[in-house]
Amino acid sequence: MKKIKLAIVGAGVWGRTHAGIFREHPLAETVGICDLDKKRAEALAGEFGIPAVYSRVEDMLAESGCEAVSIVTPDHLHAEAAVLCANAGKHLLIEKPLATTRDDVKRIVEAAEKNKVRVMVDLHNRWSPPFASAKEAIQAGELGKLRNGYFRLNDIKWVATDMLKWSAASSILWFLGSHSLDTLSWLFGSRVRRVYAVSSRGVLAKLGVNTTDTYLSTLEFENGCIAQMENSWIDPNANPNINDIKCTVLGDKGMISIDASHHNLIQKYTDTTVTVPDVLVRNTVHGRVKGFAYESIRSFVDKLAMDEEFIVSLEDAASVSLAILAIMESAEKGQPVDVRY
Ligand SMILES: NC(=O)c1ccc[n+]([C@@H]2O[C@H](COP(=O)([O-])OP(=O)(O)OC[C@H]3O[C@@H](n4cnc5c(N)ncnc54)[C@H](O)[C@@H]3O)[C@@H](O)[C@H]2O)c1
Repeated sequence: MKKIKLAIVGAGVWGRTHAGIFREHPLAETVGICDLDKKRAEALAGEFGIPAVYSRVEDMLAESGCEAVSIVTPDHLHAEAAVLCANAGKHLLIEKPLATTRDDVKRIVEAAEKNKVRVMVDLHNRWSPPFASAKEAIQAGELGKLRNGYFRLNDIKWVATDMLKWSAASSILWFLGSHSLDTLSWLFGSRVRRVYAVSSRGVLAKLGVNTTDTYLSTLEFENGCIAQMENSWIDPNANPNINDIKCTVLGDKGMISIDASHHNLIQKYTDTTVTVPDVLVRNTVHGRVKGFAYESIRSFVDKLAMDEEFIVSLEDAASVSLAILAIMESAEKGQPVDVRY
């Protein structure tokens, strides 16, 4: 089978993850990498053997010969590059969230439709082993008719204060709430109809990051399911894992509970620290990349090569962004808000 020529826009932390799996995938060939900061792109190109480096997306599109592009720019900067690439006829893997404004969601969807390009958004929790098992059990009818859910997906403060340079331009709702909301929608098999949310600020602002600390959201789905979703960026830095992930889904015949962060597979102790090393999300085994963060990106290449439907549709990802906008509006107004699709 012919290799797919791929390019990457955004040579940061997560651009590295894309480059890692493309290097190993037998059907992928990375032909170019682009970053406004050319030195960052050069560093990744050197590490992963990528032949061409660009600082402008337009030049990459004109010269690299790519057929598909990964958009791995900060949360609020996906649309510009995505629309340019779609207009150039390139298929797209866009990091989550699809976009952070109604206008940007619309622009991307319209450009994809007009140019008939295929788009997947990297809502990778669908590849997480416990959640994939839950989905199978639900599909097999083991829980009966689904009724309620609960999802906590928090990060330690360090992600907002140190890891991301642009956290003040985003929020925990975009950064992780997009995963928890997508997962609930996927497990329930339904879009969010109405939301009622509250939020709090102050802890991150004091640390110099002007964004919301926590969103607590009540979600009503179109099929009648209801859920509580908690997304906070202020978990203590000493939490043994960067994320805190808890999920419960309840049906009239059964329940599934998931604790994906405090797993008991491995704990590491020293005289001063306790850590729970990541062996599920993005790890390596004998030098090869493993974990569900790589699986979602691998799946994009597989599905593109085999001309099969992506596991996350553009419509699903657009619905997630629009539901998040409704949550933000609800938290601001102190009232329930219907999601406008
Ligand atoms: N799937 C996941 O769970 C997961 C995990 C981490 C990050 N992400 C997502 O990946 C995206 C990038 O995050 P990151 O941590 O790698 O950020 P980062 O800040 O480390 O890297 C982003 C890079 O994009 C570059 N950039 C910005 N605008 C550009 C443009 N117009 N053209 C070219 N380059 C541009 C910046 O210079 C920077 O180097 C975000 O949307 C984030 O939410 C997803």
